[in-house]
Formats: sequence, C-alpha cells, structure tokens
Amino acid sequence: MGLDTLRMRVMDKSCLVTGGAGFIGSHTVVELAKKGYQTVILDSLVNSSPVVLDRLEQLTKVRPHFVEGDVRDRALVEKLLRQYEVDSVLHFAGLKAVYESSNKPLAYYNTNVLGTISLLEAMQTCGVYKFVFSSSATVYGVADYLPLDENHPLRATSPYGRSKLMIEDILRDLSKSDWRWRISILRYFNPVGAHPSGLIGEDPKGIPNNLSPYILHVALGQLPYLRIFGDDYNTPDGTGVRDYIHVQDLAAGHIKALEALEEKQSFAVNLGTGQGYSVMEMLRAFEKASGKDIPIEVLPRRAGDIASSYADTKMAKDLLGWSAELDLQNMCEDGWNWANKNPNGYGSKP
Ligand code: NAD
Ligand code: WQD
Repeated sequence: MGLDTLRMRVMDKSCLVTGGAGFIGSHTVVELAKKGYQTVILDSLVNSSPVVLDRLEQLTKVRPHFVEGDVRDRALVEKLLRQYEVDSVLHFAGLKAVYESSNKPLAYYNTNVLGTISLLEAMQTCGVYKFVFSSSATVYGVADYLPLDENHPLRATSPYGRSKLMIEDILRDLSKSDWRWRISILRYFNPVGAHPSGLIGEDPKGIPNNLSPYILHVALGQLPYLRIFGDDYNTPDGTGVRDYIHVQDLAAGHIKALEALEEKQSFAVNLGTGQGYSVMEMLRAFEKASGKDIPIEVLPRRAGDIASSYADTKMAKDLLGWSAELDLQNMCEDGWNWANKNPNGYGSKP
C-alpha cells in the first residue's frame, strides 16, 4: 500500500491512548498526530503532569483531546469509545515501578490486570477490537540465552512483571476466543531519551529508580553521585548490560504495530535495538552528551537485577518493517537536552 493511500485511510481513524500523558504515551501521541490519527488521551495523572498537554499542543499545533480519569472506570471508557468513535486503543496506563510492586502487589494487580480487563470489556461492548499493549522485556526474566527472541520462555520475578505476564496471557486467550480481536503485544526493552525538541521527556516523581533519569539528576547536580549496582557481573566491564532504546524509536514502533493490525492478526514482538550497553558505557555517553563529570560509587548488586538483557530484533523487522534508528549518543543527547531545559521536569518554566 502506498504511503498516501495509508495516510488517507488513517485520517479519520481515532485512537484512545490510555496513559497518554506519561513518558512513552506522550511521545507516541506526537507520532500518531504526525501520521494523521485523531487521539484522545485518558490519564489519571497519577504519574504525570497536565503540563504535558501544553507541550503536546506546542509540538503538534493541536490541543490533544484529554480526559482525566481512571482506566478502570468502565462507564467512562465506554463513553469515550463511543463519543470519539474510537477504532483502536493503545494501552500505556499502568503502574511500572518494579521495587514498589513488591510492597504494593494489590495496587499493581488492580491497576494493571483489572484495569486492562475492564478496558477490554468496554472495548468488546463497543465493538472496538484493535489493541496495542505496553508489555515489557521483564516477562523474559533471567535470560536462558541471548539475544532474547520472542520464543524465549516467559517468566517474571516481581509482581509488576507478573502483572504484565498475566495480561499477556489474557490477551492470548482473548485473541484465540474471537477472530475479531487484533492485538499487538509490544515488549519494550529499556526506553530512554526524549523528544529532540526538549519539550517532552521522562519526569519521574521522587528519586529515580532507573539508570538514565538517575544519571541525569546527577549531571544536573540534584543528586551527588551515581550508585552503580554491582561491577562483578559476567559482562565485559562487570556492570549490567541492557538494550536501551530511544523513546522516539519506540513511538515509531507503535505506529508500525497499529498499521500491522490492519492486515495481521495478533502478535507479540520485541521493541529493542538488539545492542546491549553496560552501565559504564551509558555513564560515559551521558558524560560526553552533557559535558559534565558524573561521580560514581560502586555498591553491591541490586536485588532482582540480571547481568544482561538485549533483544533479538528480527521479528520486529520482518513483521512490522521496523527497526531502531537512533544510537546511544542520540539517546543521551536528547535525554540531556530535555533534562537541561527542564531541570524540574514539567514543574520547570517552558
Ligand atoms: P508512565 O508512568 O510515565 O506512564 C503511565 C501513565 O499512566 C501515567 O501518565 C499515569 O498517570 C497513567 N496511569 C497510571 N495508572 C492509571 C490509571 N489507573 N488510569 C489512567 N491512567 C493511569 O510510564 P511509561 O514509562 O510511559 O510506561 C508506559 C507503559 O509502558 C506502562 O504500562 C509500563 O509498564 C510500560 N513499560 C515501561 C517501560 C519503561 O521502562 N518506561 C518499560 C517496559 C514497559
Ligand atoms: C539498568 C541497569 C542496574 C540504576 C527496569 C525494569 C524493567 C523495565 C525497565 C518496565 C541495571 C543499573 C540502575 C542506578 C545502576 N521497566 N543501575 N544504578 O532494571 O533493566 O529495568 O526498567 O517494564 O521491567 O525492571 O532498568 O534502568 O533500573 O537499570 O547501576 O541508580 O543500570 O543495576 O544494570 P532495568 P534500570
């Protein structure tokens, strides 16, 4: 199908984006708008700021439709699906902190699992069957082999991970139960970076858990040093290796997944670069991007961490015609650009 034909076809297509005010959702909203999709964001703002809507308007020249509400509010979701004549749903909304999930498992199962079931029920009632789900490479657990392909056994080691795995199982059962469902399960590796404009980016509340926002806080002088969780792994320099992927590439992957659902049934696919980088390599790339020295202290391994994780990207190429285009330096430069322009995240002045 030619690009123009495809564009014509999507012009009147409307997507519900749950969690669209969050890190990955907001970047995907920009890509959807670029491709001509109409979007409506449903977000409770439990982990995001309404300022993101002003930034999205600056970027796309259109104020996004936004409804503050909970994805578990089935009546509200049904109302939105009908009101906006929604054709597909991209489901980002959920709780995502691995450590917190061990202390608050019920909150994680309630929001992630029950929230998804409620959303799917609302979709079924309204006859909306296209669904793109934010899963995670965490469903592979400790790797039996690398790179991780989609046939790798699935297992999870935290309530958060189990919530993603439970949802994946529900989605597999659902797609088998009724041919009308077209479900794309996207297993993200480690999303980092920000929109190159510096207008939207990752804005974690409190002290960050993840490596990239932590390093950025150190580079900004808001935290004294980076704690490196273990330098005795079986990796080239002893520090953990991960498949960091630019959030812009990830957002583009969602468009490809939506397009694929026009013609394909359901599938689960990795979204990663296929390239692993260590904590030390990340640190050096951020130092180069920011021009700052980032002090470190080596601590013992963090409970639950694994040595290495990176994706086999063949299925994404074959099935979606998608592969990541941006490299580690792009990720660190765009991440730093966002942090430097918004040292207090969305609490900063534009
Ligand atoms: P995020 O916290 O920035 O975005 C999630 C959004 O969902 C937030 O805006 C939050 O306010 C909203 N939300 C939470 N609970 C809600 C509810 N009950 N109803 C409505 N809105 C609600 O997180 P993100 O990094 O953008 O992640 C998006 C999705 O991708 C999540 O499902 C996450 O589990 C998954 N994921 C993230 C990563 C990562 O490292 N960032 C990796 C793999 C998978
Ligand atoms: C990366 C590397 C750490 C922080 C988590 C979730 C996963 C997915 C992405 C949602 C590891 C090291 C980190 C720090 C460090 N999220 N590190 N100092 O653990 O690969 O994945 O986020 O689905 O499910 O588990 O990402 O960024 O926390 O850690 O040394 O302050 O950086 O030990 O090697 P992780 P991360």
